[in-house]
Amino acid sequence: MDARYFIVFTDIHMTVEPRAGCPDPEARLRAGLDHAFSVKPDAELLLLCGDLTHHGDEASYRRLKSVLDDVPIPVVSMLGNHDDRAAFRRVFPDAPADEDGFVQNVTDFGDARLIALDTLIVRKPGDDFTHAGELCARRLDWLDRQLSAAGDVPCIIAMHHPPHDTGFQGMDIIKLRDGEVFHDLIARHGNVSHVIAGHIHRTISGTYRRTPFSIFKSPMVQMPLVFDGTDSSLECDEPPAFGLVFVKGDTVLVHTEDFAAP
Ligand SMILES: [Fe+2]
Ligand SMILES: [Fe+2]
Repeated sequence: MDARYFIVFTDIHMTVEPRAGCPDPEARLRAGLDHAFSVKPDAELLLLCGDLTHHGDEASYRRLKSVLDDVPIPVVSMLGNHDDRAAFRRVFPDAPADEDGFVQNVTDFGDARLIALDTLIVRKPGDDFTHAGELCARRLDWLDRQLSAAGDVPCIIAMHHPPHDTGFQGMDIIKLRDGEVFHDLIARHGNVSHVIAGHIHRTISGTYRRTPFSIFKSPMVQMPLVFDGTDSSLECDEPPAFGLVFVKGDTVLVHTEDFAAP
């Protein structure tokens, strides 16, 4: 099959030292990348779907950078609720961002266009902390312009927070707040072929408002199959995984692969 493909890792949760009861994120990421490149050595792009670090600290971003410096293909990084935009941009000053400083960008990929969004909330003074995500008016306006510019080119949109419920009550309360506005916007354009997300730490796929979506597991800990309850920090020690996405024309094929934990 002469499709082109990219690798997806989400929810790396890099730390300087392993968190209590958790595996070492660098060892997990390196093992996953080794596995991915052994399966598909000619993958053309690595997409990182946010929660790059656990604490959003510069030292963790530097540890992540030491791994990514060994990756021989372009890397598109996105931010999640555990990230810090300023710290990320200090360690990755060359990472593309929009005119407002949001870490979102467009990459032509074969017959398609990959649009990476920044769903990390901007907290205003007095706001309570939340792990939910947002697409503010400025970011939605940027997306509107990118989808207009894409015309008939099929667009794959990636973001950390799923823009709809996933059935996990504890995670649905920290989903993307602006999901319906986002779906109104992409419905007006009609050129989005797939939505990719992370955040849940579990493999989930389906359609929402007729748009196909794929959510990937983490190379670290996973979400147990516990649908009820409001706890958004449930974790279980299931095998780590990454995604492989094949793109040809307006076809998008999504694979997931578990890999051996070091
Ligand atoms: Fe996460
Ligand atoms: Fe997250």
